Amino acid sequence: MSYKEIIAANREWVDGIWQRLDKKLSRVAVSSRGKLPYTTVNGVHDDRSGDPLFWTNGFFGGLMWLMYAETGNECYRTTAEVSEKKLDAAFSHMDEWHHDVGFMWHILSGASYRLTGSPESKNRNIIAAMSLMSRYNVRGNFIRCWNGTWEGEDVSGWTIIDCMMNLPILYFASRELGDDRFKAVAMRHADMSMRDHVRPDGSVNHIVVHSTECADTVLGTRRGQGYSADSCWARGDAWALYGFTLSYIHTGKSGYLDTARSVADYFIAAVEKSSWLPHLDLLSPNVPEYYDSTAGAIASCGLIELARVSGEDKYLEAAISILRAMEVWCNWSEGEDSVLGMGSLMYTREQHMPIIYGDYFLTEAILKLRGSEFLPW
Ligand code: GLY
Repeated sequence: MSYKEIIAANREWVDGIWQRLDKKLSRVAVSSRGKLPYTTVNGVHDDRSGDPLFWTNGFFGGLMWLMYAETGNECYRTTAEVSEKKLDAAFSHMDEWHHDVGFMWHILSGASYRLTGSPESKNRNIIAAMSLMSRYNVRGNFIRCWNGTWEGEDVSGWTIIDCMMNLPILYFASRELGDDRFKAVAMRHADMSMRDHVRPDGSVNHIVVHSTECADTVLGTRRGQGYSADSCWARGDAWALYGFTLSYIHTGKSGYLDTARSVADYFIAAVEKSSWLPHLDLLSPNVPEYYDSTAGAIASCGLIELARVSGEDKYLEAAISILRAMEVWCNWSEGEDSVLGMGSLMYTREQHMPIIYGDYFLTEAILKLRGSEFLPW
């Protein structure tokens, strides 16, 4: 079947999910307005406003922009704009910013600018991009992820695969400012990640430790959020899948497309074995059996875009198989604020819970299947 035929064959199912999403999210847009949710407590969104630098703070507003782009419903726009203003608290703590400014601003302020033309939103996104630029280590050729220490170890040479999803804010800044340096830095980092994070079989290292003094020098790897340093954290593989696809879309570099394909093939082979339900780690023992729905939602977005740019329909079919399987984890109760359950933070804690970016990427994937042309990244 061709791409169009696969979409047509799944139209009724996609429309059904879409209607339930719109019904639930139009209520939540009002009831959670003013919150920066991460998860739910007794079915109700929590609020991370007291932690202005929390890396997921952009997702609820970003979700609202996705819904506004598709429906034009002002209730979504109002909530997105409230979220964006709440994130301004982070500008009083710029000395503590980290690499996740793409997750925080690009899908919120960047989306706002692209949908409404707001100059304030554009400004916020450009400042966030400049901050990410400033994390580039010119001697080591990489963008540093975090600050300070992690479990007592200095992290100045650490890079994580997740950063692939933060690079689109640099491509945005290059376009908007007419300044190629942002794109050049993004590509230096993506080249590093292609070489040092992605393994030949398409699995990924979550954390790679680099020399901060010598170019392109790897000192080791760390476990991060998966089972072990040499296993494959599923969300990390999903960040790589979507991240390299996006870097290909923004640059046209064929190596990024080849890398996205390799990661996608690995992810698909792993989840096909577990009836399309993604385990938290694609290489861990199955006892205890941990799943992570967010990995499936992120990977589905990447697979749909990969199918579009590569012309290979098997990626679209895989995305639909994952999304259909994960329907058992969707909660359509009007008494609860989240949709997708079974998200997991990491192997050592916080498994099987709703996480805001699960709902974000589930919605983004469904919109792509509806034919939306709005690419928030
Ligand atoms: N970027 C952190 C995570 O995926 O949990």
